[in-house]
Amino acid sequence: MRQPLVAGNWKMNGSLASVRDLLAGLKAGIGDVKVAEVAVCPPAVFIPEVQAQLDGTPIAWGGQDLSVHESGAYTGEIAGSMLTDFGCKYVIIGHSERRTYHGETDELVAEKFTAARKSGLVPLFCIGETQEERESGVTEEVVARQIDAVIKHCGVDMLGEGVIAYEPVWAIGTGLTASPEQAQDVHAFIRQRVSESSADVADKLRILYGGSMKPGNAAELLAKPDIDGGLIGGAALKAEDFLGICTAAN
Ligand code: G3P
Repeated sequence: MRQPLVAGNWKMNGSLASVRDLLAGLKAGIGDVKVAEVAVCPPAVFIPEVQAQLDGTPIAWGGQDLSVHESGAYTGEIAGSMLTDFGCKYVIIGHSERRTYHGETDELVAEKFTAARKSGLVPLFCIGETQEERESGVTEEVVARQIDAVIKHCGVDMLGEGVIAYEPVWAIGTGLTASPEQAQDVHAFIRQRVSESSADVADKLRILYGGSMKPGNAAELLAKPDIDGGLIGGAALKAEDFLGICTAAN
């Protein structure tokens, strides 16, 4: 059985004070989370504080991006080994905001997948179609292309060492959520696509949903057979909301 994973992507939000409040809230409520694995991905500068607060708790943490390089003259970049130095288990790669605002291509994302695994990090590999792509009926084509790039570069076994997050771009931060049926259809397609390379990897692979997931819609989404958790943006910034989603998997 696949253990659900609920991961918070804090994006570029928070201050040291607000991060401390949020972590205190998470620590106070995590005991109510019985089934899901829980993780948070703060902005990189807050990772040492997150590590100090969460070490020894059941909550894992991760980065929001990493460099394809291991070290050197790459101003502003963060290497995977730096994330693991601070206890990170996960790293988000290929988020649509990085694909859109930083021009990350399928190939670069595949390289980042390898870099993450080389450092021992578990990639939270984001894929998903834009509104325009959905309206043109190419959703499956787009997610297949994004998955195939990683399989081609890393091999299906390495893909299986990560987690896929299906995040329809039109549902991110918009309040529009894919209906549980819409999400399930794409999740089933993703699993099917991976199974064409390895049925075993496909069966074990966790596929999270991301896009305006909230305590009020989480249970219905998580009840779908191919939805194995969530990658949460806005609702991960309030302990009560985030824990509400985590407990929806109970
Ligand atoms: O990575 C999480 C994400 O993009 C979803 O954001 O704010 O719609 O939950 P949000």
